Amino acid sequence: MERTKVWDLPVRLFHAALPVLIVALFLTSEDEDFVSWHARLGIAVLALVVARIAWGFFGSRHARFSDFVPSPAGLLHYARGYLRGEPEPHLGHNPIGALMVMAMLAALLLITLTGVVTYAGPEWEGPLSPWLSAGVADSIKEVHEGLAELLPWMIAAHVAGVLLSSKLERQNLPLSMVTGYKHAAAAAPPEPAVWVRGVGLVAAALLGIAAALAVATLLPRDAKAIDPTTILGGYTNEARAADPAFAPSAARGETLYRTEHVQDGKPVSCVTCHTDDPRIAGRTPAGKVVDPLAPSVDPKRFTDLAKTEKWFGRNCKQVLGRPCTAAEKADFTAFALAAGGAR
Ligand code: HEC
Repeated sequence: MERTKVWDLPVRLFHAALPVLIVALFLTSEDEDFVSWHARLGIAVLALVVARIAWGFFGSRHARFSDFVPSPAGLLHYARGYLRGEPEPHLGHNPIGALMVMAMLAALLLITLTGVVTYAGPEWEGPLSPWLSAGVADSIKEVHEGLAELLPWMIAAHVAGVLLSSKLERQNLPLSMVTGYKHAAAAAPPEPAVWVRGVGLVAAALLGIAAALAVATLLPRDAKAIDPTTILGGYTNEARAADPAFAPSAARGETLYRTEHVQDGKPVSCVTCHTDDPRIAGRTPAGKVVDPLAPSVDPKRFTDLAKTEKWFGRNCKQVLGRPCTAAEKADFTAFALAAGGAR
């Protein structure tokens, strides 16, 4: 048995980066506050996957699809050997492992692309909003979430397959993905020339970067933070167009906050999710944490007009069954602003 170089450095780096990014993506997937980080991490995965696919054409021998994409006959032959407990040795990916690798690459590509479209769509008021109906955007988001839920199972199957193959082949395959070396009966077959691999690496990196830059242009721009009093002023001016004597009132805002309405047979008010006290965190009926509403406690509140508008839109509809008027929004904002520091 000889110690043979199998996995080149780009393949190993790609492989090492993915689990880290995927864990970070799951950690940032639930809380809307992390969505811009979630998107950045997703773009990093997209860039890596695009570069890896390019490397699958230009890279070193075992990085290439031509080295491991199996024919149906080859797959069957390998599977038979596997079932007998004597899998035919493969220096690179074995045919079953190769299928899993390709399935995971395809899943990652689809997950990141549907994620980009979701974030660029109407839910986040991204630049694709004019072209995407809410229904289509929702279906795309469901593909994103469905595949993302499938991914851990694919990874589990991949890990199980690698461990089983390690046992059958009597070598530490996870370690080989770290060091790049495996034990093999035969000497390593020749590699493409160094300059070919060098050009290939540059091409793969450029394609990955190009993919990242292309999708980054599709994402919503981070709104420049404005002062809550600017938002209050905007609503006040809007309300004065209808009633020149209008002045925002925190007391009226508080009444709006606390008044119960009945929707779908159930009592609901702003208090339902935002709690009795706008200075403490609440919870939606679905169990999602809602940060405190008062800017004195959460300085991000009422600093992003698009976000404030989005939530007024959703929540007024849910509680009042109709949009809030500009006067109501001004009163409500005045109420939130009047709530002093943490209780
Ligand atoms: C079903 C739960 C729920 C109810 C009821 C609810 N809200 Fe909200 N509200 C939320 C959630 C969730 C957020 C945003 C979560 C976050 O940013 O932490 C939010 C955020 C807001 C914001 C965004 C403030 C900002 O600029 O960051 C405003 C304004 C708001 N709500 C107004 C209201 C008003 C007015 C009512 C009552 C008419 C109300 N909400 C009732 C769940 C609710």
